[in-house]
Amino acid sequence: MKILVATGNRAKFREMRDILREHGIEAERVDVDYPELQSDSPEEIAAHGARYCAESLGKPVIVEDSGLFVDALNGFPGPYSAYVYETIGNEGILRLLEGEEDRSARFISVVGYCEPGGKPVTFTGEVRGRIAEEPRGEEGFGYDPIFIPEGREKTFAELGVEEKCKMSHRARALEKFARWFKRHAGR
Ligand code: IMP
Repeated sequence: MKILVATGNRAKFREMRDILREHGIEAERVDVDYPELQSDSPEEIAAHGARYCAESLGKPVIVEDSGLFVDALNGFPGPYSAYVYETIGNEGILRLLEGEEDRSARFISVVGYCEPGGKPVTFTGEVRGRIAEEPRGEEGFGYDPIFIPEGREKTFAELGVEEKCKMSHRARALEKFARWFKRHAGR
C-alpha cells in the first residue's frame, strides 16, 4: 500500500514515512508548492491543501498541517507557527513566556487526504505538554527543543525522533489516517 505525501519539509516527511511504515503504508514525497489558506482552523488548511495537491498531481495525496498552541498566549502561534518560527523562533517564544507560570501547550497535527475530483478528509492528532525554560536537545526540527510532552522531563529534541514518534501529534493523526485508509482502499 502506497501514498504520496506533499511536503517540502524533509524532517517532517521522514517522521511521516517512519510512522506510516509502522502501519504498513509506504510513503513517497512529492514537492508541490501549494498555497496555504489563511484560516484559524488547521482542518480547513489541511483540507484545502490536500484538494489543491490532488488536483494538480492528478493522484490521491496527503498533506499535513501542524502547529504549536501555547495556552498562556491564547493559542499563539497556532496557525501562524511556521511564520513565527521563521521570525522570532524558539528564543522568541521563550521571551514571550518569561515570568509566566502556566507553560502548558499542545501540538496539533492535521492530515488531509484527497483524491482528484473528490472531497478532502481530515484526521487530527494532539499531544499536550509544556514549554521548557530553555532550548534543549539536538534532534528533530522546529519547536522540538522547547516542547516537553506530558509525562516526560525531556524535550522532543532530547527524546529523539524515534521516541517522539511514539507519542507525537503527527503519529496520532497518521494512525487515524492509516486505519481509515486501509479500510477505504479495501472497498
Ligand atoms: P507546517 O505544518 O509545515 O506549516 O509547520 C508549522 C510550524 O510548526 C513549522 O514552523 C514547524 O517547524 C512547526 N512544527 C510542526 N510540527 C512540529 C514538530 O513536530 N516539532 C516541532 N515543530 C513543529
